[in-house]
Amino acid sequence: MYRYLPASGAESTPPTVCVVAGDDAAPEVVRPTVEVLHELAPAIRFEEAISGREAVARTGEAFPAETRAAIDAAACTLFGASGGPSRPVLWYLRWGKLTAVNIRPVRWSPGYRSPMLHPECIDYVIVRDNLEGMYPPREGDINELHSLASSGSWWQTPPTDVVGSYAVRVSTDEQAHRIAQATCELALRRQAEGYPGRVTLGAKYSILPRTDGRFRSIVRETVQQHPSLTYQEFLIDDLARRMIAEPETLDVVVMGNEHGDILADAASGTIGGLGLAPSGCYGEHYAYFEPVHGSAPDLAGKGVINPTAMLLTGALMLDYLGYGEQARCLEQAIAAVYREGKTLTVDQGGQARTSEFIAAVRRLF
Ligand code: NAD
Ligand code: IPM
Ligand code: MN
Repeated sequence: MYRYLPASGAESTPPTVCVVAGDDAAPEVVRPTVEVLHELAPAIRFEEAISGREAVARTGEAFPAETRAAIDAAACTLFGASGGPSRPVLWYLRWGKLTAVNIRPVRWSPGYRSPMLHPECIDYVIVRDNLEGMYPPREGDINELHSLASSGSWWQTPPTDVVGSYAVRVSTDEQAHRIAQATCELALRRQAEGYPGRVTLGAKYSILPRTDGRFRSIVRETVQQHPSLTYQEFLIDDLARRMIAEPETLDVVVMGNEHGDILADAASGTIGGLGLAPSGCYGEHYAYFEPVHGSAPDLAGKGVINPTAMLLTGALMLDYLGYGEQARCLEQAIAAVYREGKTLTVDQGGQARTSEFIAAVRRLF
């Protein structure tokens, strides 16, 4: 069963969460977030598993069997980010655990340092394919493509004397249906909360009819089965413009894997940056939670990285585990720190260190 919507209540047996802190500056936001979550929901057990350089030093492998076993045994995983060394863990969390749907909320809150004139109208959710498109990489030598020459394409007469590479972009109906269904369920839930119930699809259906064109048809037909929802679709490049020029028209925005990867970073820029953007990845049997941002190697060891994205990611995880009350408490404390504006990190125009921001949030529980 997919559970991208908050669980209605906690299970009677308290869950165990596997924590993989990741690389570079990621542990500097993961570990204090776990302390905050533990304070809010002491019943949840957090078990940190090693990865990356630390795991290589201790076991000889970046993704040791014990870490895989800890991920498998847990109700879900909280992941920092990979700067390279922990990438096998990220791969396992996505394609090993088939976490098909990536949900990336984009919402401005007073005090966020947005470059937009009217950031108060930014409140939508990106639903991103987490498994297909161009990731994971399937690349090869361009000369292997000769057998794929097809009429009507520039490749009709393949050159034989070139050096180059190709990348494959994959799209299955099964995954498109999963994404379409998640999009509709999310839009309906938001509509019940007062949002307009508007699904916006972005894809390159104009020039990729068999992949993006089919994705578009499946999403459109699925949305049209829900009479209360409205549907609009734009070519992905035009959607990028609309995210900046008219974000108030967006409610639930659905896109493919690499489009969602890129535009989620861009969307975070409209609310004030990567330090503010959470995400959750949901599969039929597993979920894991990571911020939109990467491992921020330029900030590693400085103690200044903004933990907001990771904390809000923790709130998404609390919702998933049925701890909705604690999730709201955490979100409200974060919002209050931003409203007050006295303890903000450098990316938000303040001078607070990561630990000072965390302390300010904890004072408000
Ligand atoms: P990045 O998101 O790590 O950083 C981009 C910029 O945003 C940097 O200037 C960084 O300092 C800033 N930034 C990011 N998070 C911040 C935060 N919480 N607070 C304040 N500033 C923040 O992206 P990048 O530099 O392009 O990539 C670094 C590494 O992360 C790469 O190895 C990349 O592959 C990896 N990455 C991993 C994931 C993941 O594990 N899911 C996601 C994205 C990037
Ligand atoms: C993200 C990251 C990853 C992605 C990379 C590290 C594979 O950028 O989670 O947004 O593109 O999915
Ligand atoms: Mn990304």
